[in-house]
Amino acid sequence: MNKTLVFASANKNKIEEVSHKLGGMPIKGLADIGCIEEIPETADTIEGNAIMKARYVWEKYQVNCFADDTGLEVEALGGRPGVLSARFAGEQKDSTANRHMVLDLMKDELNRCARFKTVICLIIDGKEMLIEGIADGHITREERGELGFGYDSIFCPMTQSRSFAQMSIEEKNILSHRGKALTTLKKILGQV
Ligand code: IMP
Repeated sequence: MNKTLVFASANKNKIEEVSHKLGGMPIKGLADIGCIEEIPETADTIEGNAIMKARYVWEKYQVNCFADDTGLEVEALGGRPGVLSARFAGEQKDSTANRHMVLDLMKDELNRCARFKTVICLIIDGKEMLIEGIADGHITREERGELGFGYDSIFCPMTQSRSFAQMSIEEKNILSHRGKALTTLKKILGQV
């Protein structure tokens, strides 16, 4: 296998989590291969978006790569925001507005069960693999913590009273959807 592996993301928080988890592996970023354009993610499922992003990089740059797509699925909201997580409160993709929208919709709701779902699409020498990581938990009643990104400050993983935004990257990676998917990715790469 060609040793270069590109993580197809421009999200600096995701890149930081991936670097912590895969430390020691030679991972490149999009800028390293000259990819500065925004990669389309217009599929109607989380899986579809992960595939779309990884295929874009494979087809255009011919490098082994992986892409992650993530959604927050809230039981009382029928699985929303799901694939629409980035633009739940509008096309401006404002994370603060997205969190407020969820808290607002959940104001009088007793069932606070939710989960994060990450799907990673890995492409090695043209062969595609999908890897899923799930973190079950609940939606808080107010924002908690300053760390992390996206919906982290309104989500407590199962058995925890702290939100992801109150955890270090190392702690979040042990419990999180992305951390779990990356554990599987590491195993797979050990076998390639
Ligand atoms: P995407 O996977 O980059 O498309 O992210 C979709 C939405 O989910 C964005 O609003 C992100 O900020 C949010 N998001 C993605 N991963 C996480 C996470 O690990 N914690 C909290 N929010 C996340």
